[in-house]
Amino acid sequence: MRVSCQVNGETRVADGVEPTESLLHLLRDHLDLPGTKNACEQGECGSCSVYLDGRLVCSCLVLAGQAEGTEVTTVEGLSEDGELDPVQQAFIEAGAVQCGFCTPGLVMASHDLLRRVANPDDDQIREALAGNLCRCTGYQKIIDAVHIAARR
Ligand code: FES
Ligand code: FES
Repeated sequence: MRVSCQVNGETRVADGVEPTESLLHLLRDHLDLPGTKNACEQGECGSCSVYLDGRLVCSCLVLAGQAEGTEVTTVEGLSEDGELDPVQQAFIEAGAVQCGFCTPGLVMASHDLLRRVANPDDDQIREALAGNLCRCTGYQKIIDAVHIAARR
C-alpha cells in the first residue's frame, strides 16, 4: 500500500508498505531516516520515539498506515538549518552519549518534557524519561543534559 505523510516538514510518500509494517519500519526502511532506532519493537525501550501529530509515541507500536495524513517529527527533524537543537547539543556537552543507541529516543523524550515543563527538577526528569532505557550511561549525565538544555 501507499502511505503519504509529512515527515520533518516535507511531504513523503512510500509505496509497497505492508499493512503489518510499523511506523518505525516506514521511517527507517522506506524513508531512509535511520535516526529513529529499533531496539525492542515491543514498546519497552523508547529508542523509537517520535512525534506523531505533536504527541510523543513509540513508533514501533504504530502501524505505518496510521501515519497516513499525519505530521511526523523524528530526531533528524529537531535540528534547523544545520544547527543542533539545544537538547541535542546538551547531550553532547554533558557526555550523555556513549554507544548512542538510546540517544535519539532520549533526545525526543527530553525535548517533549521541556515543551511541557520549562525547568524540570530531577524527579520530573526521571519520571518523563522512565520509558527510555539506556544500558551505558547510568542516567546521571542524561539528567545533567536535560538541565543544561533547560537553562537555554
Ligand atoms: S523499539 Fe520501540 S519501544 Fe523499543
Ligand atoms: S548510550 Fe548506550 S544505551 Fe544509552
